Amino acid sequence: MKEQFPILETLTYLDTAATAQKPLRVFEAEHTFGLTRYANVHRGIYAQSVLATEAFEGARAVAAKFIGSTPQEIVFTKSTTEAMNLLAHTLPITKKSRIITSLLDHHSTFVPFQQAALHAGAEFVVLPLTKEGALDMRQAKKEIEKGCDVLAITQLSNVTGEVIDVEQLAKWVHKQNGRIVVDGAQAAAHLAIDVSHIDAFAFSGHKVYGPTGIGVLHVQKDVLSTLSPYQFGGEMIDAVTIENTTFREGPARFEAGTPPITQAVGLMEALRFVAEHRDLQEKERDLIAYCQEKLVRMNATIIGPEEKVGCVSFTLPVHAHDVAEFLDKEHIAVRAGHHCTQPLHDALGIPASVRISVGLYNTKEDIDRVIAALKACVEAFDV
Ligand SMILES: Cc1ncc(COP(=O)(O)O)c(C=O)c1O
Repeated sequence: MKEQFPILETLTYLDTAATAQKPLRVFEAEHTFGLTRYANVHRGIYAQSVLATEAFEGARAVAAKFIGSTPQEIVFTKSTTEAMNLLAHTLPITKKSRIITSLLDHHSTFVPFQQAALHAGAEFVVLPLTKEGALDMRQAKKEIEKGCDVLAITQLSNVTGEVIDVEQLAKWVHKQNGRIVVDGAQAAAHLAIDVSHIDAFAFSGHKVYGPTGIGVLHVQKDVLSTLSPYQFGGEMIDAVTIENTTFREGPARFEAGTPPITQAVGLMEALRFVAEHRDLQEKERDLIAYCQEKLVRMNATIIGPEEKVGCVSFTLPVHAHDVAEFLDKEHIAVRAGHHCTQPLHDALGIPASVRISVGLYNTKEDIDRVIAALKACVEAFDV
């Protein structure tokens, strides 16, 4: 596996939750496309543009299949962040609305919906955690039953590694005639996804071994058809006159301007790569469990419940930034900070934590290396 990732020859990379390294085959797919089939899509009458359009739409079909959606329900965006902003701007939110998020949510979900609620004068509810740091499902049910127009929530926490039962949440939200919006930025990289009960689901190409600059947004077709355009420009229009403009139906309505064409081809290859290596996702879980066990033995304070997927965050008596800098000198990359979840860190009463996150390319040796370096760090700081 590591031969596909030359960048890992000199680096112990444990920051896949921030962005995944790309396998050679993704670079090769983009390179070949750029050299042989590149043109703008959807507008050229010439053969090369038809080829490029076929590749681009092929990527949409692969993205749809990857999460159990259909191409008519897939909007290409720039990222999860852009998808959440699109939804926060286009879902009907008024001063009578009740918008629910959770303490686990990444700022890219939390802030757009917080701001949409503030703008509309809507009620904004933040679901709490249990004492163990898991999403409090009993409280979630209670809050949703009080009324829920939109529940925007992550499926896999980028801090605690908790997997959220979004299917159960969807049942409660739909009983209230609300919409469930799922942030799948982490989930898409580590879990098999099925969006059949979800109104909207977003993920980013760069977290699933693909390029930056492209994201995937699934919006269930009955919901999609009710949304008004978010951005205006070429490609998304039906007809333009001096007086007014009409807009296309379906995903095209939300894809103003030239889309990320080459990135779509890279993403398609990345999704095939993940689909071919599903068996290694089990190994990722074992690595995190192994890492967690070692951290507990060295008296690290672990954040969140024991059952984790993809990442483990913790504190040591040494400040998180000092830990990350120490590890960097050993060519080990981990994340330190609030990981774009300030409300969560505030609730935990800590300014920052260290996060170790894994991808399909990580090995037990990587975990042994980071644990040895953490021990050396604690010793060096004499705490
Ligand atoms: C859970 C979660 N949601 C959303 C995002 C935002 O992704 P992007 O920066 O690609 O929009 C991240 C990125 O770290 C994340 O971990």
